[in-house]
Amino acid sequence: MRGFFIYIFTVLTGIFMKHLIAPSILSADFANLQRDIEMINASEADWFHVDIMDGVFVPNISFGFPVMESVKKYAEKPLDVHLMIVKPERYIERFAQAGAAVITVHYEACKHLHRVVQSIHATGCKAGVALNPHTPVSLLKDILADLDLVLVMSVNPGFGGQQFIPNTLNKVRELRAMASLQNPGLLIEVDGGIGLHNLGMLVEAGADVLVAGNAVFAAASPAEMIAEMKRLDTGTVQL
Ligand code: DX5
Ligand code: ZN
Repeated sequence: MRGFFIYIFTVLTGIFMKHLIAPSILSADFANLQRDIEMINASEADWFHVDIMDGVFVPNISFGFPVMESVKKYAEKPLDVHLMIVKPERYIERFAQAGAAVITVHYEACKHLHRVVQSIHATGCKAGVALNPHTPVSLLKDILADLDLVLVMSVNPGFGGQQFIPNTLNKVRELRAMASLQNPGLLIEVDGGIGLHNLGMLVEAGADVLVAGNAVFAAASPAEMIAEMKRLDTGTVQL
């Protein structure tokens, strides 16, 4: 009986929830950040994806609190903060204060992941866990029920504009199957190398939130690209 209700819930979620598009401001023009933020505000995008890199967890440094606070000042949509930093527990409170709605930490960066997730929830933010391409989704078995979101990396984190890793599709399918039993409301986000060529497959596999940096900001019309990504009809049922 419980299985039946979970099935109905999943089907209804598939019918009523359209996939979300989260443009990554890593690919924005930082000399014209306000302009690019206002473009996203006016577009059909759902979230701002904010990539924080520390030069230790990943071989690149992006930006920190001053930039994030400036984004917050103009953004009219939720900030989805992806922390690619070691020991993220040191900064959860500050990212929440800086305006995050969702805070995602890497599985590979947390010794006490459950505690970090608790501390994210204590700030009132949604809690996400990101998996590098080599990290199996099965490792989340004992924490899946406590999460709002899992971010499946479809490139090795550190840089925008990389090529999508095809095995990501298998990971998304496996995670959706796990979630249908343990946490049917879980959001599955995919990040890296996403464009019109693979977005449909990912939504069909069970992805809810698609991050796009290069595909949006390198397009002739970023707002039109977002609209196309949003429009892409992939069928509705996500299982
Ligand atoms: C990579 C970042 C991504 C990146 C996506 O480490 O987490 O969010 O900005 O950019 P594209 O869509 O260009 O691969
Ligand atoms: Zn990201």
